[in-house]
Amino acid sequence: MDLITTNLPAEAFPSSTISAKAVIITNHSHSIRQGSFLRQASIYPHYLTDAFLSYPIQQPESKSINHAFLKDVLVGLSQPKKELNCKYFYDERGSDLFDQICQLDEYYLTRTEQMIMDRHVDEMAYQIGTGAMLVEFGSGSSIKTRTLIEALDSLVAYVPVDISEDHLLKTADDLRQRYPDVEVLPMVADFTREFQLPKTVRTPSHAAVYFPGSTIGNFPADQAAQMLSMIARVLGPQGGLLIGIDLQKEPSIIKAAYDDSRNITAEFNLNLLHRINRQLGGNFNVDQFRHHVEYDSNIGRVEIYLVSTHDQTATIQGQEFHFGIGEAVFTEHSHKYTIEGFSQMAAAAEFSLHKHWTDPERQFAVLHLVNERC
Ligand code: TRP
Repeated sequence: MDLITTNLPAEAFPSSTISAKAVIITNHSHSIRQGSFLRQASIYPHYLTDAFLSYPIQQPESKSINHAFLKDVLVGLSQPKKELNCKYFYDERGSDLFDQICQLDEYYLTRTEQMIMDRHVDEMAYQIGTGAMLVEFGSGSSIKTRTLIEALDSLVAYVPVDISEDHLLKTADDLRQRYPDVEVLPMVADFTREFQLPKTVRTPSHAAVYFPGSTIGNFPADQAAQMLSMIARVLGPQGGLLIGIDLQKEPSIIKAAYDDSRNITAEFNLNLLHRINRQLGGNFNVDQFRHHVEYDSNIGRVEIYLVSTHDQTATIQGQEFHFGIGEAVFTEHSHKYTIEGFSQMAAAAEFSLHKHWTDPERQFAVLHLVNERC
């Protein structure tokens, strides 16, 4: 798999002046890739010119290294407390493992959120209102969003935002056929960065972001708050945000969701090291690391690590990294919220909570927030 990245600064949340997008991923050969790129370009020149900085397309044959990935890995492993950036979990193998996680008995999040959506989609659509533009963050194949798209009254446009171009292209074609009255305007983008809403032929009454999956919980608290401000800015006054969040609950239930009995989550976490070996020519002995999960119930935060079971050294592109026995490499946080706590954080971004829905056991919640700034 090739990664083509724009030459953006490394930090996850640049200043509000930067409106460029970050990552395009493709499994295609060079020529197919360019073809699909141009196909999109002819349909949506505005978003391409707005969104992308030019960057040379790498030849798959040359096995060239994704330098952003390499740099992030080298920097992360050079910290006093070693870390690896969680955005690199999702290569092909990682995405496949994550799909398996979503189907695990212990991983209650996906099915609970889906149940809430299925039960309350009409109310959600009513809250969002008529004539909207719906922007979905991390849309994937958009299959689960169809119920929402269908429930919305006079939806003007649907904008799936994802870093996987493959997913997006397939999705967009399919959605256009299904919903000929809806403008489908896919954006290949890293939604953690500020971006502009695409121009539509018909003017929507307002825009709404749909951000499912409790993905906001994977950002540190300060970045989650910044991201809410960014969403509010992009949406403008009266813009809506329909967001899924995982709720605080009995710690053993939460821990099991991230440390399942079939060790799929362990494999997902360890795949990061395999990916470094595969794509960056690293020589990690992956068998000498184990998946480790902690839940801090004071903060309401799952902490995920890879722990070295041996005293060992790994080399990546000539750079050596030493791992002591029991040394932990941090890979991801997953925040669990209370509805009140999340609303407070959102209020700082001038979002006010209009309505929320939960399951009977109050495991997960979907919130509808509106940007009250004038
Ligand atoms: N957004 C998911 C979550 O926080 C991501 C996730 C699920 C995850 N399982 C994981 C991330 C295991 C790292 C390791 O629930």
